[in-house]
Amino acid sequence: MIRSLLLATVAAAMFASASWAAAPIIPAPVSDTPREGAFQLDERTVISAPTNDAQAQASARYLADLLLRSRGLKLAVRAPKAGERAIVLSRQGPTGEAYKLDVDGQRITIASAGDAGLFYGAVSAWQLATAEPGRGPAVIWARQIDDAPRFGWRGVMLDSARHFQSVDYVKGLIDRMALAKLNTLHWHLTDDQGWRLEIKKYPKLTQVGAWRVPAGPAPAADFDPATGKPRVIGGYYTQDQVRDVVAYAAARHITIVPEIETPGHAHAPIVAYPELGSAATPPTATSSDWGVFPYLYNVDERTFAFLDDVLTEVVDLFPGTYIHVGGDEAVKDQWKTNPAVQARMKELHIGSESQLQGWFISRVEQMLEAKGRRLIGWDEILEGGVAESATVMSWRGIDGAIIAAKLGHDTILSPEPMMYLNNRQSAAPDEPPGRGAVVTLKDVYGYEPMPTALNADERHHVLGVQANIWTEHARTEERVSKMLFPRVAAVAETAWSPAAAKDWKSFADRLPAELGRYRALGLTFDETPLKVRALSEPQGGGARVALLGAEEVGEIRYTLDGSAPGAGAMLYSQPFAAPLGTRVRAQAFRGGQPLAAASDLTIDARSIRTRASQELKVCQGALVLNLEDDAPLQGDRARFLVDIMNPCWIYEGADLTGVSQIEVAVGQIPFNFQIGKDVEKIKFRPPATPEGELEVRQDSCEGAVVATLPLAPATRSQGVTVLTGKIAGAAGPRKLCFSFTQKAVEPMWVIDRVTLVHGAGHDR
Ligand code: ACM
Repeated sequence: MIRSLLLATVAAAMFASASWAAAPIIPAPVSDTPREGAFQLDERTVISAPTNDAQAQASARYLADLLLRSRGLKLAVRAPKAGERAIVLSRQGPTGEAYKLDVDGQRITIASAGDAGLFYGAVSAWQLATAEPGRGPAVIWARQIDDAPRFGWRGVMLDSARHFQSVDYVKGLIDRMALAKLNTLHWHLTDDQGWRLEIKKYPKLTQVGAWRVPAGPAPAADFDPATGKPRVIGGYYTQDQVRDVVAYAAARHITIVPEIETPGHAHAPIVAYPELGSAATPPTATSSDWGVFPYLYNVDERTFAFLDDVLTEVVDLFPGTYIHVGGDEAVKDQWKTNPAVQARMKELHIGSESQLQGWFISRVEQMLEAKGRRLIGWDEILEGGVAESATVMSWRGIDGAIIAAKLGHDTILSPEPMMYLNNRQSAAPDEPPGRGAVVTLKDVYGYEPMPTALNADERHHVLGVQANIWTEHARTEERVSKMLFPRVAAVAETAWSPAAAKDWKSFADRLPAELGRYRALGLTFDETPLKVRALSEPQGGGARVALLGAEEVGEIRYTLDGSAPGAGAMLYSQPFAAPLGTRVRAQAFRGGQPLAAASDLTIDARSIRTRASQELKVCQGALVLNLEDDAPLQGDRARFLVDIMNPCWIYEGADLTGVSQIEVAVGQIPFNFQIGKDVEKIKFRPPATPEGELEVRQDSCEGAVVATLPLAPATRSQGVTVLTGKIAGAAGPRKLCFSFTQKAVEPMWVIDRVTLVHGAGHDR
């Protein structure tokens, strides 16, 4: 009683003092209207749903479970007694995925005639209850929300082929998608590097195709005592596991769309069953290379029989309408040189390999049609002519979607780089490995999927939007989560909320609550872009310090006296001068709430002259990757930002005043990239010593060499080696350019970090 009185007082005080804020819900609802009063949620609140309604009961229990896990509140699911405060799930509402949410002092009513709508209403109610961080009771402002999704396809693609994730991980992702009102999990189950789905009729697909030795000399030397061979990584999903995952998703109103890649990205199945391939010499081991492999299925009838068998098992496992059959990046070299393929083309009067791909995909489409399903393919399926019922997933920009919709095909927008969450989300050195483009949370949020080139009729063909996480460089499940979150929250708002309701400032205002929910539930997300880091350089006898992090989302507060930074600490606005030895403690905030843990940074003679590879510029930027070392096998590995087409870095404004030595931490990465003939474009200067050297030039990459560091000492370690040498350049802030001399791409030498050593080198 005392607690409830106290809460009433708190609520009244809040109502009197705070202004009513838009619902702290992501994705933002269609409409949100304030009402008078507030609802006090505590353990005496009950959740009720019609007892004869299994779906409504399930959503009620889902809400109860969320409240328990996030706030420690244990609410009973039962009919309320007279006078009891209650969250009531009702069927007197809109249909489908739409719902209404009414909050007054006594009741929260969640109403939808649709099962999914009721579920989403429950999720929104939970978000209202978790607007403020902390556990225990919550005050929910009275309001009326009317909500319905903008798009019917609100997707995430998970690549389980390049790196395998556990069933528990996939279920956890499904839970997180459901909380974001996403409804489609596109599951990329087969690719060159792995076949992840048990197919009973073809056991070698997983016995052989689901396992591989990771790239590089370190894993190759890591022998498994059980087999006497290098240890393999991988895994696959049994059909029982898949049925379980599909049911788990369905209970959260998520449809799984499996992808079985054809006719390319087929290296793994061709290793398992070489008779499926087109190459004169079939591959013999599942590969750990990345990129675009040359291996295509052949066009023999027995290959189509194989695909038909596989799809028979696939449709038995996945009850959804759509099956994705890939179609992307099928380089046709092997078809061009394979006599049987060429003979088949003649017989079919098919004039080009691209048309042959169109014919191939239409064969697969007929199989799916016969099984009562619809085909989806990546936008390349448009190139060889494709049947009208095919749905096109536009990834090479948005042209595929525009062409598809104008031709009368349904389409889904999933363009790189904005919807490719394998790109890193900030330039910070400790981002998880991934592709090198920086695609920030705000970039993702700003993406508008409806192509302006489409007229009103054509727009009906846009089913929705999808973000993809390709996992070449996401070796662990933790990293998959970091690449996805919080950016998936931005994707969800794009997919669900009306275009007119989208507003970055409002989203950023709602972000701390969302991050609070992740934290309350113990869910991994990438805090790195929200964490403050320093980039400092020499100035006078001290330093000029720039603070970076959370620029787009919040404000940086900092202290220089060693005290903890709070929301009331100094506001950072521009770089400042500081003596060496200064301790900067800093944290980013939005609306007074911390966005990430505080940073504790010391500015000293080394830090002002040290740059990680991610803080250097790449010289050209043709194919930039944030790559992880392949060694050591256990423990932390370095991450290098490198343009693999031109491994060359620039340190802008490097001040050699008083500097006579340079230290460069270098690593070597396996060149495991299938880039075809493009490898010939990678040029190196010839080495002067057998092992090669790092050359440092001043002012330009063609300028005078000011330091040469032989690589010989680094060849003895598979990890990172610190090379030290003399540097003799002109003083003052100037450009330094770093490149390696070597004879061939394997291994590729890379920079981890550079330090210009001031004085005699004793100041570390
Ligand atoms: C793709 O990224 N190859 C669809």
